[in-house]
Amino acid sequence: MLNTKPTLQLKDLIAFSKYNDVNINLPENYDSIYWSTCGAQCLADLCKSLVPKNGSNLIIALPGYFCGQSIRFLRSLQTEIVFYPLTSELTPDYSQLESSLGNRELDLFVLVHYFGNVIGQSEANKFAQDKSAFFIEDCAHVIGYKNIEWLGDFLLFSPHKHFAIPSIGCLIGRINNNHNLRNTISKRKLPIKWILKQIIKSRIKRSLPEWRDFFGTAISESMNSLTPNNFVVKKAVEAFELSQESLQIRNQNRNLLIQKLNKVKNWSLFVSDNAKGSSYVLGMICDNRKIAKRRFNLLNQNYQLVMQWPDLPLEISQDDEILAQAKKWQGLVLFFFIHQQIDTSIWTRELDKALEANNF
Ligand SMILES: Cc1ncc(COP(=O)(O)O)c(C=O)c1O
Repeated sequence: MLNTKPTLQLKDLIAFSKYNDVNINLPENYDSIYWSTCGAQCLADLCKSLVPKNGSNLIIALPGYFCGQSIRFLRSLQTEIVFYPLTSELTPDYSQLESSLGNRELDLFVLVHYFGNVIGQSEANKFAQDKSAFFIEDCAHVIGYKNIEWLGDFLLFSPHKHFAIPSIGCLIGRINNNHNLRNTISKRKLPIKWILKQIIKSRIKRSLPEWRDFFGTAISESMNSLTPNNFVVKKAVEAFELSQESLQIRNQNRNLLIQKLNKVKNWSLFVSDNAKGSSYVLGMICDNRKIAKRRFNLLNQNYQLVMQWPDLPLEISQDDEILAQAKKWQGLVLFFFIHQQIDTSIWTRELDKALEANNF
């Protein structure tokens, strides 16, 4: 069976249900951690805590190439989102952002480390400092915080994207960062409903693949209503502590995949890696939309090997340049899942089948 993200497996159930007392070792210069139901909720909670008392809006800069779902909680707050375009390296286009801001003051600047590639921190930090804005490093695609030097005032993580745990997000705060976020973590509780759903989901996906998409969305949506409890928090900390092992497997999968893809033409790597990078998915940018569509169908015949990303925020349709850029990448890039739990024998068999098709 191939899953698009790590899922709880029957053989791991006993280990999962054990409550281990793990300590979190925060990165150097960071001393607070705030937990909420997902990354998007953490960002919204932070914004809510920073909304100016004088009734004016909190101004937050986000890339237009972003998931619309991830700003759903921000829309009901007293915030104004200024979207910015990116360079071909997926770093912010600062001159465009400057001109969009005009003479408005910026409160929060968000730099996204796309697909686990941690880049652009110094420039982003300087930009935020010049504007006296908080600098948020969005690390939702990064597996953990180990072995990386961070600069952000806040680091946003989504451990549930990388490990088989219920939906949970966290915001790690730099020393002396005065914010008003207070954790409300409920009592330790085994997430029985989540466990049952994981088991049902994998059984149904195996025997009734046509229900795959329904279970993907319905189940993940229902997960978002869970509030974090001590058990899930500990599981997230445990996962962070073990993240380097998973990262190694992902990088092996990534290298294997690149070797295979190098045999075909009409594509390039979406973003090149850097020394600090940690692959989350591998992005193949196809030469045109027709090729991307054909490959998407060939690769997803029996299992879902690739996805297209993201569902864009509706708000960006007001800016032609940002919309065109985000739509271009949304249409041309195929993201391969390379997580640590992939069954490489099924995966390589399915990949080879698709890659060998005459019209790949
Ligand atoms: C770049 C980025 N940031 C934040 C989020 C929000 O993460 P979560 O699913 O934990 O709310 C996502 C979700 O896809 C994302 O892609």
